[in-house]
Amino acid sequence: MKIIMLGAPGAGKGTQAKMISEKYGLPHVSTGDIFRANIKNGTELGMESKKYMDAGQLVPDELTVKILLDRVAEDDCKNGYVLDGFPRTIPQAEVLEDALNKLNDKIDYAINVDVPDENIISRMSGRRACVNCGATYHIQYAPTKVEGICDKCGSELILRDDDKPETVKNRLDVYHKQTQPLIDFYSARNILKEVDGTVSMNEVFESIISILG
Ligand code: AP5
Ligand code: MG
Repeated sequence: MKIIMLGAPGAGKGTQAKMISEKYGLPHVSTGDIFRANIKNGTELGMESKKYMDAGQLVPDELTVKILLDRVAEDDCKNGYVLDGFPRTIPQAEVLEDALNKLNDKIDYAINVDVPDENIISRMSGRRACVNCGATYHIQYAPTKVEGICDKCGSELILRDDDKPETVKNRLDVYHKQTQPLIDFYSARNILKEVDGTVSMNEVFESIISILG
């Protein structure tokens, strides 16, 4: 099964992708996580992508597409995957579609986690991410057992550089201009599924399970 998670920044794509990955045994492929791992390791790709991410802009398609296609060509993706944060532009969606067509393959579902802009800023300002393993929490909606410490690995939690309110506003603008058109793109292919992302994480996941079976 091949699934794309769509939705605004902070809609809960990563949260739901992780839950899908665990229940259905599919690798969770997040371009944002790949970029952040590269930033942490100080790679050239990390240094290049950080400039765009910190400004709330998209990393150019030339860089992003290659990384994604290399990742889904790996062995663990043979039986499917959950894409989180890719595609984010129509050209990215077209490249993915062409690559799959060549393999006689296709995406099964594009799930749009729908959350209005008003809810996004508080989601982002309360999000905390682990510096070490990347696990994500929310100070109110998904708190850790010990404040500021990751439940999974015991490392310190931080506010992502791009979760500052002024950057979040840019990310939302970019989302509406460049990513939202993907809703029509996948709707035209009859694989778009909408879920209400404003309810609790478990309720969102229940709606997703009822779609995926
Ligand atoms: P990326 O990491 O993909 O960020 P994003 O799309 O902006 O999305 P987020 O990760 O911020 O939000 P999310 O939807 O995953 O929400 P989450 O589950 O964490 O990309 C970062 C940057 O990398 C981009 O800006 C761009 O520069 C670059 N990039 C990445 N991919 C790219 C591409 N393909 N092309 C070009 N550039 C690319 O949830 C948010 C918070 O809310 C959490 O704290 C969570 O605990 C909480 N929460 C989740 N669900 C609920 C709920 N139901 N109720 C209450 N709280 C909830
Ligand atoms: Mg995410």
